[in-house]
Amino acid sequence: MNKRKILVTSALPYANGSIHLGHLVEYIQTDIWVRFQRMRGHDIYYVCADDTHGTPIMLRAEKEGITPEALIARVHNEHLLDFTGFNIQFDNYYTTHSDETRYFSENIYTQLKAAGLIAVRGVEQLYDPLKKMFLPDRYVKGECPKCAAKDQYGDSCEVCGAAYAPTELKNPYSSVSGAEPIKKSSEHYFFSLSDDRCVNFLRRWTREEDHLQPEAANKMYEWLGDADEKKLSDWDISRDAPYFGFEVPDAPGKYFYVWLDAPVGYMGSFKNLCVRNNVDFDEYWKKDSSTELYHFIGKDILYFHALFWPAMLEHAGYRTPTKIFAHGFLTVNGEKMSKSRGTFITANSYLQQKLNPEWLRYYYAAKLNATLEDIDLNLNDFAVRVNSDLVGKFVNIASRCAGFISKRFDGQLVVGEQYQIMCSFIDEHFASWRPTTIEKAFEDRDFSVAVRQIMKFADEANEMIHELAPWEIAKDASRGDELQRICSLGIQLFYLLSRYLKPILPKTVGDIETFLDCGPLTWPELVDGQKISDMLLPAGHTIMVYKHLMTRIDIKQIDALITANKQSLATMSNSHSQTRHGEKQQHTITPIADTISIDDFSKIDLRIAKIINAEHVEGADKLLKLTLDIGAEQRTVFAGIKSAYDPEQLKGRFTVMVANLAPRKMKFGLSEGMVLAAGGGSSAKELFILSPDEGAQAGMRVK
Ligand code: 2FM
Ligand code: ZN
Repeated sequence: MNKRKILVTSALPYANGSIHLGHLVEYIQTDIWVRFQRMRGHDIYYVCADDTHGTPIMLRAEKEGITPEALIARVHNEHLLDFTGFNIQFDNYYTTHSDETRYFSENIYTQLKAAGLIAVRGVEQLYDPLKKMFLPDRYVKGECPKCAAKDQYGDSCEVCGAAYAPTELKNPYSSVSGAEPIKKSSEHYFFSLSDDRCVNFLRRWTREEDHLQPEAANKMYEWLGDADEKKLSDWDISRDAPYFGFEVPDAPGKYFYVWLDAPVGYMGSFKNLCVRNNVDFDEYWKKDSSTELYHFIGKDILYFHALFWPAMLEHAGYRTPTKIFAHGFLTVNGEKMSKSRGTFITANSYLQQKLNPEWLRYYYAAKLNATLEDIDLNLNDFAVRVNSDLVGKFVNIASRCAGFISKRFDGQLVVGEQYQIMCSFIDEHFASWRPTTIEKAFEDRDFSVAVRQIMKFADEANEMIHELAPWEIAKDASRGDELQRICSLGIQLFYLLSRYLKPILPKTVGDIETFLDCGPLTWPELVDGQKISDMLLPAGHTIMVYKHLMTRIDIKQIDALITANKQSLATMSNSHSQTRHGEKQQHTITPIADTISIDDFSKIDLRIAKIINAEHVEGADKLLKLTLDIGAEQRTVFAGIKSAYDPEQLKGRFTVMVANLAPRKMKFGLSEGMVLAAGGGSSAKELFILSPDEGAQAGMRVK
């Protein structure tokens, strides 16, 4: 085997927020891939760190009355506990607030400067005279310059959707101190991305050697354009004091913007590991290194990883990434994670509620592929799938066979001629169980394909055991050999499946290694001419007594998890509500309409409707065509919810419709009513169709 040298990273989580199930998509995805490569015997390092710098962290520490250093130390421990809880096996989990990251940030900056790629320009920004600090856009609020809505953030209006500069807000105020900001100019440092050297390099890099997935490369194409088109702007990499970060060399009072040193944290974390473990750092980071470097990230931070980061590395004299692997976002029950619905689930709460982390690892694996598509955690499906696949199919194989082996044969599998008969049987009936498809799927990050294949094998194993029915044979004392052979066959098949599942279920397969007393399982290498029986436990191998390997998910555990994560609106407004980027959340509060009488209201015939079909409408940007069952009849409704819902998510759901609205002739057909949805003001994605409580039937009147 050609031993590869691989360095892998996952995006660095901010040091002011908890790890949630959305984050875990990435860490689980990366960890599975890394464990698979480790099992194959490659030299692989997986590093990560906390992303510790920036204004939000500085202000959060201040609010808590502690230093930023104390805050990041506390969060570091919390993050590590969460990751360890989910069996994420980093080789190093470090911090960007480190000497190593400072060194490489300064070094990269100095090289870029020497290459003439750093420019200094004055920038006018809003400044809080009370707090004596420049205000990032999200810390300025005021009236929308277009529609005059109050309390809008500094970049866009949530009521009318207008985008603007913070300096355009009317009656602006600082959300840090409440003071009216003033305009003030200061010098900023820029990385000259618009320089021909950077643009030409990036046009090449983003289009060659599959550095990026096809969808990501297309996105970069939109940003980079073609020769002669100038699309990239220079990147502002400095911020003024007060700021929690690294000072720019020879520029007192200027700090590197957090996104400058964040990816450098990958190098910092690896350097720290190299010094401790005596690994050659330069071999992995020198220009034209023959080692492989992969960054797993969310699609929302492609811009930084596919443009800024390779350009920084290239022009500072380092190697560039081999590939960037971006994934989609997580939805829960088909919708954005929500604190009020209790679906913004933290890693810690999942562990506290005693849900098994391997369940989530398995479910994510079953959903993940190599594209940028979002993945949905449907909590019902989660329970059904884990119970049926892992407990009902996989673990079931061992539990059906192990008891007989322990009780009747002292734990010993077949030996001699019986072993040979079993091997021939396996080679005849299970010849398709070669690792090839699963191996390729793991390598390509097509984990859903790997899981499908493994579960197909598990079905085959169960069918065979069912057919051979050892429990029947056990009734006849004269058929001992046969019983031992059939149960050994079951255990051997279980052993093969365990190898394939090990990257996904490291803890369970660890327990299986103990049960089978087989030592750490590696990835099976089958060369041409070798047979499935060459991958088995040896003849006469003795196993330990079977102990239950996994429990089923009880739906009550899911309910408790949701309850534990449900936050009231009051708690939420007090909490630091942030997205993964520390950006603001969208809330649309529109004024209450004029008062109407109960008679006015009762004119509206609201009905529970079951969505029996939902489909896209050719040529319509916003509409989905819904077929609704309202008990007595079916209706077709064209609803403007395409931006927020995938038709597949809607099928089978109940909602509420206005049943007596005059039919409307639309370009695409007749719309016979309207479904009710909340939101839909500023952001097309912020749209929520209503659902009745469980038990409501199609056609019921809503009053
Ligand atoms: O988006 C985020 O959560 C960032 N903290 C990711 C940084 S990844 C890398 F560049 F450090
Ligand atoms: Zn507005």
